[in-house]
Formats: sequence, C-alpha cells, structure tokens
Amino acid sequence: MSSLQSSFLPYYEDMNTSHLEDVFNIEKESYGYPWSKNIFYDCVSNNYLCRVMLINDNLIGYVISSIVQDECHIMNLCIQKEYRSLGYGRQLLNYLQQEVKNINCKLIFLECRPSNKSALKLYLSEGYNEIGIRKNYYPAVNGYEDAIMLAKYVQQK
Ligand SMILES: CC(C)(COP(=O)(O)OP(=O)(O)OC[C@H]1O[C@@H](n2cnc3c(N)ncnc32)[C@H](O)[C@@H]1OP(=O)(O)O)[C@@H](O)C(=O)NCCC(=O)NCCS
Repeated sequence: MSSLQSSFLPYYEDMNTSHLEDVFNIEKESYGYPWSKNIFYDCVSNNYLCRVMLINDNLIGYVISSIVQDECHIMNLCIQKEYRSLGYGRQLLNYLQQEVKNINCKLIFLECRPSNKSALKLYLSEGYNEIGIRKNYYPAVNGYEDAIMLAKYVQQK
C-alpha cells in the first residue's frame, strides 16, 4: 500500500469529552435539527456505545448507539461533509456492525428520514429492511416528518 493510501486509512476511538467540540461541529453542518452538545455529553457519560472515526488525527465521523439486551439501536451516524461519498460511511457502519456482533447483538435497527436518500441507499445496500414507519418522528419545516424504520439481523436468533 502506498503512503498516500495509508494516510487516508481511518481508525476508531471510543468517543470521550475531548471529541465533543469536533463532533458537535460536524453535527451542526450535517442536520437541520442537530443534537445539542448536551445530548452528546449525556451519551458519552452514560451507557451508550459511542465511537469516532479519525484520519490523521482529524475526526471525520461518529456513530452513537444504544444496546439493550441483544439489540442495537443506531441513534446517530454521521460523516463530515468533505469526506462523504468516499466510502467512509459504509466503513463506519461495517465497523459498528462487527463490534456489536462481537458482543452478541442479533439485531440492529434505526430510523431514517424518507427524504435522506443517500442514507437510505447506504442502509438498503447493507442489507437493512424496512420494517415500519414511525409517524411524526422528526421535526421538519412544516411540522413533522415520518421516520422509516430499518432493521438487519446480524446473527441468527
Ligand atoms: C449518510 C452518510 C453517513 C453516508 O456516508 P458516506 O460516507 O457519504 O457514504 P459512502 O461514501 O460510504 O457511501 C455508501 C453508500 O451510500 C449511498 N450514497 C452515499 N452518498 C450518496 C449520494 N450523494 N447520493 C446518493 N447515494 C449516496 C450510496 O449507496 C453509497 O454506496 P455506493 O458508493 O456503493 O453507491 C452521510 O451522507 C452523512 O453523514 N449524512 C449526514 C448525516 C446523516 O444523514 N446520517 C444518517 C442518519 S439516518
């Protein structure tokens, strides 16, 4: 592998409070209704599975999930704008899938806005299936937007 390729290899760390500034900056540029810094603080301070993706010491993405028994709920998965459509979102999702498989999770599920076409394409191409709709789940310009619920078995029940 050339040094140019290896310098773009992502690696992962547990999210901690020193990451929150970078995480929040990415969050703000990524969502119309971003999580507050306090929500991230609560997630890292409590029992959520919080990981960051870095390249050359730059934080370029993060994923936050809650684990209840053998189910993983992805609550936030995000890649910094300049690094999108380069395969990092899929790598981050694959990293999480492997990690939760290792702790014996059987099912991963999440919600996604129907308008979020790139995220939907990613999840469907990774084998997630639509399992339902959560009515009026997300805030939106004209009130609320439904969420599509997606799920994937990562191990047999
Ligand atoms: C959704 C998100 C995480 C995808 O990350 P990414 O690094 O851009 O995605 P990847 O480059 O790994 O691409 C994975 C797949 O997503 C889809 N995709 C990515 N960018 C896309 C785009 N601009 N248009 C359509 N589909 C796209 C494609 O199916 C792609 O697979 P392919 O390259 O084999 O066709 C990223 O767009 C993001 O952070 N968005 C803002 C936060 C967000 O919406 N998170 C999801 C909440 S449910």
